[in-house]
Amino acid sequence: MTEKSFKGRVVLLTAGPTHEPIDPVRFIGNHSTGKMGYALAERFAQLGADVILVSGPTNLHTQHTGIRVKDVTTADEMYKAVLKYAETADIWVFAAAVADYRPKVVADKKIKKAGQELTIELVKNVDIAAALGKQKKEWQFSVGFALETDNESANAKEKLSKKNLDMIVLNSLKDPGAGFAHDTNKITIIEQDATHTFELKKKSEVAQDIINLILERIDG
Ligand code: CTP
Ligand code: CA
Repeated sequence: MTEKSFKGRVVLLTAGPTHEPIDPVRFIGNHSTGKMGYALAERFAQLGADVILVSGPTNLHTQHTGIRVKDVTTADEMYKAVLKYAETADIWVFAAAVADYRPKVVADKKIKKAGQELTIELVKNVDIAAALGKQKKEWQFSVGFALETDNESANAKEKLSKKNLDMIVLNSLKDPGAGFAHDTNKITIIEQDATHTFELKKKSEVAQDIINLILERIDG
């Protein structure tokens, strides 16, 4: 790897959670902070890539001039932004924790507290990675993430195939210090016919491990 290994390459990344509005003051979200996605964006940019970072709501910022940030809130907005840039990108990295469902109806006024129970009907969001998988060209490389609590490898492998990914990064929630909001992470990278395990590391170093393997595959 040289300091400009990704020069001339466009990397499209999704990061962070999505927020699905319930009414003007509430939403459905998740614990993703975006740290892993932003760490990857920084490293790709340092290596010369032209990075488009489609980011859900996070507290993170980047100063790197090689990163263009497209802020979005909902899964639907994230999908539209991704579609806009997908064709021009050589590498797609789906690091966002996209909400799987959204409220069927968004109330235009704050929902007032009433009875003992409240039911909110949800409808499925588009699976961005899977939709993109259907239009992936031979020269494009795609990376997904998975966070599982059981049957980890089997579930991740199924996602690899279903979403037409070239590799999937499995995050462990079991290991202390790994997962949401931590600065460290412990990953396993799964490809169609290989599995790579890594130690608990800083997210910046995890980003480097992921990028090393991507580079081996696209240049090798
Ligand atoms: N993903 C996506 N769009 C969605 C849901 C997921 O692009 N609507 C992407 C994620 O960014 C990740 C990969 O798909 O790279 C796997 O996400 P995950 O939530 O683990 O998989 P799901 O297919 O949603 O399955 P489940 O949540 O039921 O485990
Ligand atoms: Ca999901």
